[in-house]
Amino acid sequence: MPNILIHTKINAPALRRNLVSRKRLLTLLLDGIKQGHKLTFISAPAGFGKTTLVSEWITSGEVPAAWIALDESDDNTSRFLTYLIAALQTLITGVGEGVLAALQSSQPSSAKDLLTTLLNELSSTEDDFILVLDDYQAIDSKDVDELLTFLVEHMPPSMHLVITTREDLRLPLARLRAQNQLTEIRAAELRFTENEAADFLNQVMGLNLSAENIAALTPALQSWKGCYKMAATSRINHLTVIAKKRQETNKNGDLIRRFRDARKRGMFLCKDGKERTFQEWLETLPPELAAKILKIAGHPE
Ligand SMILES: Nc1ncnc2c1ncn2[C@@H]1O[C@H](COP(=O)(O)OP(=O)(O)O)[C@@H](O)[C@H]1O
Ligand SMILES: [Mg+2]
Repeated sequence: MPNILIHTKINAPALRRNLVSRKRLLTLLLDGIKQGHKLTFISAPAGFGKTTLVSEWITSGEVPAAWIALDESDDNTSRFLTYLIAALQTLITGVGEGVLAALQSSQPSSAKDLLTTLLNELSSTEDDFILVLDDYQAIDSKDVDELLTFLVEHMPPSMHLVITTREDLRLPLARLRAQNQLTEIRAAELRFTENEAADFLNQVMGLNLSAENIAALTPALQSWKGCYKMAATSRINHLTVIAKKRQETNKNGDLIRRFRDARKRGMFLCKDGKERTFQEWLETLPPELAAKILKIAGHPE
């Protein structure tokens, strides 16, 4: 049982500047709540923008939200309940105090009983609210899985659960799906559309690519990680190969060729048409993005 809670775990992460807007996904999320879905399930590998999407959504403030960033140390029921209450208290003052006290006692009741008490308290809330469980794959405990299943089955109608995970979930998703209680977003939805890829390359990365070149690059931009890698180092060469393969349909391969030629000489072709060294190029980017690129460039997979 933790006596000291880590407060950053119950705060949604700050949003980066220079976000590519993901309106189509935000609409999907909000529609789910409007239709009264109990659970929103977002599952995709690391780096697909799950956390960013959910934080962008809840930052818009349409529906009040509590947040828990889960990690491996949360995979026992008492710790899970403690963070659950701490997160809910950011929305509902004093909720679950009795349960917290019971958790500290020498012979606490079963986790299910304690959760039932908490759910009874929550049943009087009328306004919709969201609870986000970010990175659920960190939990490797049947007991917590069962507690979560119980939570989903007995939540008051005002409560909506959002779970992000890199894996599939050991929850009765099929039943929720059949009852029309589930919004699902998976890797296929999180992948860039061509417009989002264009926004990323031209606005976030500060490049100035033509529609044709963007179309050639889009298939390689399957995740944000892919984008950063592309920006970071030799991945650009790899991308130019992909782009080249598509050049039959891509009459304007000029920019791609210039990119590749510049990379051969260890240089980066920038928005203004000038070639820069990696360091000079980094200096033209927003500091946060430059730091990220450096990190990835330093730790190639
Ligand atoms: N809409 C976006 N616009 C710009 N960058 C983004 C966007 N979504 C994600 N990223 C960046 O991609 C990286 C991975 O995103 P993240 O949300 O942490 O992925 P996940 O939670 O799936 O592992 C982060 O550095 C994040 O800033
Ligand atoms: Mg994440």
